[in-house]
Amino acid sequence: MRRHSPLGLLALLASFAVLDCDNRQAWQEPDPTWARMLSQRRADPYEATSAFPDGKVMRAPPAGAVPVDDDTDAPPPPVTRELLLLGQKRFRATCSVCHGLRADGDSVVATKMELRRPPSLLDPDNLARSREELFVYATKGYGLMPAYEDMLDRNERWAVVSWVQTLQLSQRARVAELPPELRERLEKEAEPQ
Ligand code: HEC
Repeated sequence: MRRHSPLGLLALLASFAVLDCDNRQAWQEPDPTWARMLSQRRADPYEATSAFPDGKVMRAPPAGAVPVDDDTDAPPPPVTRELLLLGQKRFRATCSVCHGLRADGDSVVATKMELRRPPSLLDPDNLARSREELFVYATKGYGLMPAYEDMLDRNERWAVVSWVQTLQLSQRARVAELPPELRERLEKEAEPQ
């Protein structure tokens, strides 16, 4: 261990004393508005009260109330054209800045995030992820990626996930697997003019 000179130690102690004084002053004389907020009457969660007939501070939601928070156990919404269009919109506004419009990881932000580049969502690892797994990433975030549960509601997150899967499918779909009428249209469009 490095040895301190007695003078250095004294200076160090003195600086602690000064800091200590400052702190105490800040805590002993709170802003008058703060003091009022701290001392006003209030009820804490789970406390008893005589204000309500059941004696509980916490109230049950009225019958028929619709929860605004997410029910994560509810089944995902069915994939419809409407859901995909919503997903496309939200993905472009929320996710594409990092993962790229095609979800291939090609974005300006990606080139600047040196610590961990936003990955391509088209790589084998991500192609193997289930819809539910992708939903958890979009909800809770992952590593350096932020959570989106406050920004996108449950339906929007399922929509985004469905759009990611659409991008995954559309960029590796085989023409032979398309329904006959789509295949015909595509082959016509691909014909040299
Ligand atoms: C601010 C940039 C940013 C945004 C916006 C963003 N992501 Fe990410 N995402 C990342 C980064 C960085 C990682 C890798 C995190 C890590 O490994 O620490 C990641 C990881 C992921 C993964 C896991 C993939 C893997 O291989 O690690 C999925 C799935 C994903 N993001 C989906 C989404 C979706 C869906 C959205 C939009 C709701 C979104 N991301 C928005 C930066 C972002």
